Amino acid sequence: MDVSLGDRSYEILVNPGSLACLSVRVRALRPSRVAILSNPTVYGLYGRPVEEMLKGHGLDAFTVLVPDGEEYKDLLWLYKILGDLLRNRCDRKSVIVALGGGVVGDMAGFAAATFMRGIRCVQVPTTLLSQVDSSVGGKTGVNHPLGKNMVGAFHQPSLVVIDPHTLRTLPQREFVAGIAEVIKYGVIWDAELFDTLGRCCKEILGLGSELQDAIVRSCQIKATVVGRDEKESGLRAILNYGHTIGHAVEAVTGYRRYLHGEAVAIGMCGAGDLAVRMGMLPRQDARRITKVIENYGLPTRIPKDISPDRLTEAMMHDKKAEAGSVRFVLPTAIGMVKLVSDVPGSKLRQTLESCRVT
Ligand SMILES: NC(=O)c1ccc[n+]([C@@H]2O[C@H](COP(=O)([O-])OP(=O)(O)OC[C@H]3O[C@@H](n4cnc5c(N)ncnc54)[C@H](O)[C@@H]3O)[C@@H](O)[C@H]2O)c1
Ligand SMILES: [Zn+2]
Repeated sequence: MDVSLGDRSYEILVNPGSLACLSVRVRALRPSRVAILSNPTVYGLYGRPVEEMLKGHGLDAFTVLVPDGEEYKDLLWLYKILGDLLRNRCDRKSVIVALGGGVVGDMAGFAAATFMRGIRCVQVPTTLLSQVDSSVGGKTGVNHPLGKNMVGAFHQPSLVVIDPHTLRTLPQREFVAGIAEVIKYGVIWDAELFDTLGRCCKEILGLGSELQDAIVRSCQIKATVVGRDEKESGLRAILNYGHTIGHAVEAVTGYRRYLHGEAVAIGMCGAGDLAVRMGMLPRQDARRITKVIENYGLPTRIPKDISPDRLTEAMMHDKKAEAGSVRFVLPTAIGMVKLVSDVPGSKLRQTLESCRVT
């Protein structure tokens, strides 16, 4: 499938075993040098064979490693990456291959956006979250001590190669957290995908073929949305369903208690409840959303120790809050959402109270 952005359009390949085709695809880009950006965990699993394969196809490849962890997604490590690119004589025709999860992908994308004012990047995402979300769409960046993803650029990749086989080695908790984003696509866009997720929980958790279909569908939806609204001036905001409350839960728990997808799972249940209170969504649909999320073993409720006041405060400080007004993506049916920026404070408070663990 393709992301349609005129002369910046690119292909997304989703195929079990597609890692083996990477060198042919990268060679077609005719790069002067290929910098593989990865971390020791992923490099230990997939990096060496990838590097050997690229070299075997006559490509001038080398590897740059960053430590494994969100805390290294910062400007200091970006500076180090840019230095390694310069030391290895990369130029405008070089290509960065991002081999890893969203952390590696965001840093590789931002390095590609800034090195010599922009070079090409190939995303090879190896977590479910990065396969269905961060590798597609061109948002790149790093964290700042004063906020997550505060420094970055839009820079579309030249190619995305997704090999679902890489998910076999992913820790179960990381895998399940990625499912939250897939459920998100079902709720915002595709009732059929949502039904499949409900019906085929066992098969998907067992990495069956239904998972590959769900990855393809998720990428198609993201590609469609990004193709229509690259810079988030409207439609793209629907991808933030579950993220308003989710980001607040992450922030007040210091980004340590929950994985991103887990916090989004709680946020999607919260947004469902809020939509019911706003009279926009039948209660039974909100229940279905929560049930599917629960079936995958994801959290559905706000922990008891987090007060509605702290969450509301965190929402006001989110970078997506515009001029002090918090914007929600609320479902009106399974497969359809609306952007709402005038949610009454009293209704939000009721939701934050009633979604708390009792
Ligand atoms: N750019 C975007 O549009 C966008 C969208 C969503 C999230 N993000 C960013 O993505 C990041 C989160 O990405 P993530 O959830 O992939 O986390 P991650 O990159 O930290 O990966 C999670 C863990 O899994 C390990 N791992 C990766 N692939 C593996 C594999 N195949 N087998 C075994 N272990 C493997 C990693 O080393 C890491 O320890 C955040 O920084 C977030 O801000 C960006
Ligand atoms: Zn997300």
